[in-house]
Amino acid sequence: MDHGAPSIFESLESDVRSYCRGWPTVFDRAQGSRMYDEDGHEYLDFFAGAGSLNYGHNNPVLKRALLDYIERDGVTHGLDMSTTAKRAFLESFQNIILRPRELPYKVMFPGPTGTNAVEAALKLARKVKGRESIVSFTNAFHGMSLGSLAVSGNAFKRASAGIPLAHTVLMPYDGYLGDRVSDHLFLEGLLTVAGSGLDRPAAVIVETVQGEGGINVARAEWLRALQELCHRQDMLLIVDDIQMGCGRTGAFFS
Ligand SMILES: Cc1ncc(COP(=O)(O)O)c(C=O)c1O
Repeated sequence: MDHGAPSIFESLESDVRSYCRGWPTVFDRAQGSRMYDEDGHEYLDFFAGAGSLNYGHNNPVLKRALLDYIERDGVTHGLDMSTTAKRAFLESFQNIILRPRELPYKVMFPGPTGTNAVEAALKLARKVKGRESIVSFTNAFHGMSLGSLAVSGNAFKRASAGIPLAHTVLMPYDGYLGDRVSDHLFLEGLLTVAGSGLDRPAAVIVETVQGEGGINVARAEWLRALQELCHRQDMLLIVDDIQMGCGRTGAFFS
């Protein structure tokens, strides 16, 4: 369908666009794993919202719940006010996710994006430990806001910040050095050798399986060694499960 040139996407929207340049059509509808453009062409959606659409587009169960909620004038915006919807969510999360795993966790609701959750975790870790630096890993991706970029490994994305990204220590992810046994020892060695001269990090942030960084799977033994190191060195261990959680590796948490 020709809507005249230039399109409103070209004339009005920012140049900071990515996916639409690779897929030059205008999508109109989506259901399950299929998307349909304005001309009625059907596409099998391998992109799936950058992996975020676990249940597909407009899954009938989710759609029904959403329509019912709107129909009964459920609260649209509540910040962190107590609402019946938030109570129902917390109760379900406790009963289905936390209790069966005996996890004594608290739930914090940051903004709606992954990078919001990462920023919240970094702030919390720095506040609790009273220290500034955070250890992160080669090829890690944690989001595009400044704090998250500072713990991301990709030089191109980091450069978009336009300012120095400080208070982070980049370490080799499992397998990065080739010798798959020695990687976590690298950090241990650095902490020991540098001794009192090093600003001991407040936390380590890690993806158990790196997503954007190329689907790199850390071995369970490497992750366990990292966890032990964190305990020994009084550092918190933050697992960024934004891409690999919610059942994407099988279990609810990666
Ligand atoms: C591991 C990980 N953390 C954080 C993010 C950032 O999430 P968002 O794009 O929703 O801010 C992503 C996004 O791909 C991610 O893969």
